[in-house]
Amino acid sequence: MRKGAAAQVKELPTQTIGKQAKSDKDYSIYFQSPSLKDAKKRGKEEVSVRYESAIPDDMKTIGEGKRYLIRTYGCQMNEHDTEVMKGMLEDMGFEATEDKRDADVILLNTCAIRENAEDKVFGELGHLKTLKQEKPGLILGVCGCMSQEETVVNRIMQKHAFVDIIFGTHNIHRLPVLLKEAYFSKEMVVEVWSKEGDIIENLPKKREGMKAWVNIMYGCDKFCTYCIVPYTRGKERSRRPEDVLAEIRDLARQGFKEITLLGQNVNAYGKDFADISYTFGDLMDDVRKIDIPRIRFTTSHPRDFDDRLIEVLAKRGNLVEHIHLPVQSGSTEVLKRMSRKYSREHYLELVSKIKRAIPDVVLSTDIIVGFPGETEEQFEETMSLVREVRYDSAFTFIYSPRDGTPAAAMEDNVPDEVKKDRLKRLNDLMATISREQNELLRGQTVEVLVEGESKTNPDVLSGRTRTNKLVHFQGSKELAGRFVHVTITEPQTWLLKGELAVAQPAKVV
Ligand code: SAH
Ligand code: SF4
Ligand code: F3S
Repeated sequence: MRKGAAAQVKELPTQTIGKQAKSDKDYSIYFQSPSLKDAKKRGKEEVSVRYESAIPDDMKTIGEGKRYLIRTYGCQMNEHDTEVMKGMLEDMGFEATEDKRDADVILLNTCAIRENAEDKVFGELGHLKTLKQEKPGLILGVCGCMSQEETVVNRIMQKHAFVDIIFGTHNIHRLPVLLKEAYFSKEMVVEVWSKEGDIIENLPKKREGMKAWVNIMYGCDKFCTYCIVPYTRGKERSRRPEDVLAEIRDLARQGFKEITLLGQNVNAYGKDFADISYTFGDLMDDVRKIDIPRIRFTTSHPRDFDDRLIEVLAKRGNLVEHIHLPVQSGSTEVLKRMSRKYSREHYLELVSKIKRAIPDVVLSTDIIVGFPGETEEQFEETMSLVREVRYDSAFTFIYSPRDGTPAAAMEDNVPDEVKKDRLKRLNDLMATISREQNELLRGQTVEVLVEGESKTNPDVLSGRTRTNKLVHFQGSKELAGRFVHVTITEPQTWLLKGELAVAQPAKVV
């Protein structure tokens, strides 16, 4: 695929680079586009864990004097992938910039979960076209989940030919090589592997602040009928426990205050190990013993949430009492069509078990309204489940058909106005419940990890409780990064306002 004329004039890096070492797979040309059909296959291939030395020697100074900008869309998995790409770019000498006019490399790390996520990226590509015309040496890359879709790659090749690199979620570690190729090539560099079993360890990561994400597994094998993720992220692969624990111990030594363990379905952790029997509950029990004040995890699938995990979470300590437990729908019939593989009753039973073991647990969830065939009664079942569980917060979405998924072939027969009306009713209910749940905290003193000045008001400090609730209070900026006790004086729907308590925690700082 030839690119537009503007894209052919590129500013070459100063040093000469020898023939590329195509260490991973011997691809003689850099054009490999995705296939959702291949991505769906789940083979018996071995998962190899590779301990890479991240940046080839001849790439270590390629970015000197140059700046990069990465725009990230989507979930924490993508945010964390961005940290890995930042780490690699900085190991190549690039510096970060927030100003796209100042950037020599711009990457869009994209999300494919709903149509509006994709629209945002195409909108941004429209803006970047002008910039690319003004600055032909700019390298423009598209990566993340959208790159795994052939329709997206075809559309970019046809309508946004000024893009220099497209690479997929399995090709992130290849960024240095692809970047080098993009500097020299007159062609669009496209490398998207649809199937990948490998786990790449030791990639550099640029983490900021006091909170860190740690991947415990990649991919998803659940194939909920509406969801594109199993196609864009490949099959479930768990990182070895020793690698996860070593990374967390290292983060503890560096002084991080909070860790979030990441996976699309963390409860499936370890199911793919052939040589050991070690589950997510076992991992949490080991992580619990590491000296990090707060440990979270996301996302847990209700189907695999077992008693062992509940028993470990009930030990508390640094395991916080907040669980994100996506339900998607309160109707067993709809859950069946979504292929969630649990019923309303099973979900409610699980919630009761969790509440019995951890009485002050805070639950949050994800809900889709307007799934194909969802009747008014079925939507009302979702409303009644929300009333029964009393989530503290929820991410709520209108169903968005995704090409290649089974639900996209179902008749999307809920009219748009009905979908919007259901979303509004659900959001109104959630706002009422969140407000009532927050009201329970009036007058109580909670532990807050101070993040810094509030984004909306520099006179106010902002932080989070163990249950991930946002708290605003007055205090010295030096408290940023520390744990304080705050007495809640004014609970609101999405925010708790409070005052620094007189007695402060002696230990956790
Ligand atoms: N792995 C997580 C979810 C990741 S996607 C889990 O299983 O819980 C985050 C949320 O996006 C999902 O929980 C779902 O509520 C929503 N979502 C996924 N596909 C969607 C679609 N096609 N339309 C609307 N919402 C969707
Ligand atoms: Fe998507 Fe379901 Fe996998 Fe979550 S569990 S990522 S909703 S397929
Ligand atoms: Fe989006 Fe991919 Fe995450 S589709 S939600 S960025 S896994």
